[in-house]
Amino acid sequence: MSTASLPRPSAPLHPVGLRLSGRRVVLVGGGPAAYRATAGLLESGAMVTVISPAVIPALAALAHSGALSWIRRPYALGDLEGAWYAVAATEDRAADEVVAEDAERCRVFCTSADDPGTSSALPANPPPDPADPAPRDGRTGRVVLVGGGPGDPGLITLRGQQALARADVVVVDHLAPRSLVAGLRPGVEIVDASKLPRGRAMPQEEINSLLVSHARAGRQVVRLKGGDPFVFGRGMEEVVACAAADVPVEVVPGVTSAVAVPGIAGIPVTHRGLTHEFVVVSGHVPPGDPQSLVDWSAIGRLRGTVVVLMGVETAPAIAAALIRHGRQPDTPVAVVTEGTTGRQRTIRTTLAALGDRIREEDLRPPAVWVVGEVVRLAAPTVGQVPVPPS
Ligand SMILES: C[S@@+](CC[C@H](N)C(=O)[O-])C[C@H]1O[C@@H](n2cnc3c(N)ncnc32)[C@H](O)[C@@H]1O
Repeated sequence: MSTASLPRPSAPLHPVGLRLSGRRVVLVGGGPAAYRATAGLLESGAMVTVISPAVIPALAALAHSGALSWIRRPYALGDLEGAWYAVAATEDRAADEVVAEDAERCRVFCTSADDPGTSSALPANPPPDPADPAPRDGRTGRVVLVGGGPGDPGLITLRGQQALARADVVVVDHLAPRSLVAGLRPGVEIVDASKLPRGRAMPQEEINSLLVSHARAGRQVVRLKGGDPFVFGRGMEEVVACAAADVPVEVVPGVTSAVAVPGIAGIPVTHRGLTHEFVVVSGHVPPGDPQSLVDWSAIGRLRGTVVVLMGVETAPAIAAALIRHGRQPDTPVAVVTEGTTGRQRTIRTTLAALGDRIREEDLRPPAVWVVGEVVRLAAPTVGQVPVPPS
């Protein structure tokens, strides 16, 4: 097969936008380049199929949540059957070229992440030229812990965005907004440090030493996390590791899912005359677990709002404990999954029925659930549709 069949890179482009909603798009590759490509594709509503024998944890998390499907094998001729668009992002030029040539034969437009020359389509807003890097703060390496917010890229702070624009290396969690990763300059090293619930995880010590070693090599390192770095984010462990190694470290707070996810579903965590308190609890281990540090009897006695993070699997046990310790079984509950993203869902129920509803609706992480009278206030039209990224 020869590359002669591929389009001439020097030929003028005809600029168009693709409506991909509900259409099959094949993404070949399982590394950071493929992960970058998922951002725009998923936001456009495309039905994305990833083809790769292995994927990084952030992509595995998307497959697990049902956001895309994953075929665990190398690309094979015929894989573009029924596809409207293809992205070759294997990080191996020869392998990308095979996909590009197959796409050409099947008359499917194709973007090669590494090689615009073999692409029949090019991204509309290519990231800035690598020859024009962002300004550096001298060659002293440093680490910035950035809270990326709950998912909508518009919810990162200005300071967080500035730190990303200067980064040489971005160490990213799977809940950090994907399109922020997609918008990084080419040449920025992306390290996937996702910790999947009961799944693959880079050990915290390895993340700490990675941050320190990149900074010591003179790099600007951004540790990009979902939500706020200090809300169940292990941010302080990373700050301590950097400080112990004499690496300058800055913290840029983020919008936490604990407040923003109920908020975007129209549920305020407090309301004048109704509740004067809200408590945010980790549900990653159930009540009674020897590792649990939560006093569930005290939480059950509260009258205000209880917000539970990392509590999808443990919801039946937590709901039972809250009822046992004093909360009424008919207390309203809302579960919000994938809040602030285009896949956001809200389910309303009661404490007594919570476990059954989660099972019936097949709700999966990431989810925040909220218990309390504030759930009755929910205004369904407020913030239900996240603002699309510009
Ligand atoms: C390890 S904690 C990190 C929390 C994060 N530091 C924050 O401030 O939002 C992960 C949990 O946050 C919640 N979460 C984060 N993003 C979410 C989203 N977009 N929608 C729903 N829940 C989310 C889920 O409960 C998830 O299991």
